[in-house]
Amino acid sequence: MGQVQAIPESLCSVVVISFRIVDTASTSFSLREMRLEIDDLQKWFDLNEFDRVEDEPRLPPEKMLETRKQAVEDHGKTCFGFVLESEEQTVGMVSFHNIGTLLNIGKPIFCDVVINPEFRRRGFGRQLYESGLDRLRELGFDRCVVGVREGNEAALAFTEYLGCSELDRQYLLTIDLTTLSDEGIATNADDTVQLFSLAQLRDTDPQWREKLHDLSKAFEKDIPSRVEVSIFPEDLDEFEKLLYVEWELDLDGSFVAVIEGVWAATTWKRTAGEDWCYHIMTGVRPEFRRRGLVKTLKRAGFAWAMRVGIRYIHTNQQESNLPMLTLNRQLGFETKSCYILLEHQFG
Ligand SMILES: CC(C)(COP(=O)(O)OP(=O)(O)OC[C@H]1O[C@@H](n2cnc3c(N)ncnc32)[C@H](O)[C@@H]1OP(=O)(O)O)[C@@H](O)C(=O)NCCC(=O)NCCS
Repeated sequence: MGQVQAIPESLCSVVVISFRIVDTASTSFSLREMRLEIDDLQKWFDLNEFDRVEDEPRLPPEKMLETRKQAVEDHGKTCFGFVLESEEQTVGMVSFHNIGTLLNIGKPIFCDVVINPEFRRRGFGRQLYESGLDRLRELGFDRCVVGVREGNEAALAFTEYLGCSELDRQYLLTIDLTTLSDEGIATNADDTVQLFSLAQLRDTDPQWREKLHDLSKAFEKDIPSRVEVSIFPEDLDEFEKLLYVEWELDLDGSFVAVIEGVWAATTWKRTAGEDWCYHIMTGVRPEFRRRGLVKTLKRAGFAWAMRVGIRYIHTNQQESNLPMLTLNRQLGFETKSCYILLEHQFG
């Protein structure tokens, strides 16, 4: 778990909820709205540190703030949450946001609850979660989507308590580029394959958006998932917004293989931390499959990452996508954890 959120401008003027709870030890607690400011994002980051799994990527609070602010202020995304505080410390926080790829059913929103370990099993998690439901209903949302790491028994019990049901599972895989030999980054493409970064194509091909959209649509239906998700919009401007806003594509680190003028395959990166990035999408046109293009493109991505000082690349993989899991493992990715995606319909 580890999403951050912000308060949409339109909601900033809403009167902040603030009420007090006094427990049996006479400690006073207050609940307030989470602010789109570095202090609150730092609190969120610190709370998440308690359950951090070594090797898993964490966005620094400054980067989270930048992303959320842009999504809310420039693109009208919904982001809000609450902070529960005692007189001395942060007891817990909840965040709701719809930034990223969500289910295609109903009107879903991501939710994340984190409670300071000192205050767990006292009903605060449930209370924080429920504090957002009325506003979510008012905004038209009807279900929350949560991701829980396999083995996080407390969180799984909590989601069961809330009435969530499992939708899908995803592996988180990581490659440490310093473990690769020269062979591990050799692209080995034959002469018919030309490799370009998306930045090069954007600068040289006025039709680059159309061509990328067309290629994406050609592989979209084969992206495996147990749940239907909206991926690539038909509208070109919406498609571009998805790339820049939701996925924060790094055009220098994303590549396209062109064969005899046809955009045949692509791999996309999203830069995030100082020495790490995400690999977020791979797709090959059906007629160009089984020709080693994915390995070629991914290795071009490794070489780019090493040039710009990136050491780790993280990627998510659907449990059902065995071919891609096998391929990633052959390239040197290791499985770090498995996340269970669940939803709670409250509408
Ligand atoms: C998961 C988490 C948010 C639960 O917060 P919490 O304040 O302890 O939860 P609550 O006290 O509201 O628990 C509500 C119910 O969830 C279930 N539950 C919560 N923690 C549990 C645990 N450790 N073991 C078994 N059941 C648990 C119980 O049914 C509980 O009701 P009960 O205490 O009456 O039996 C907290 O453990 C946490 O912050 N974990 C790390 C972050 C995380 O993984 N979040 C995922 C959820 S989005």
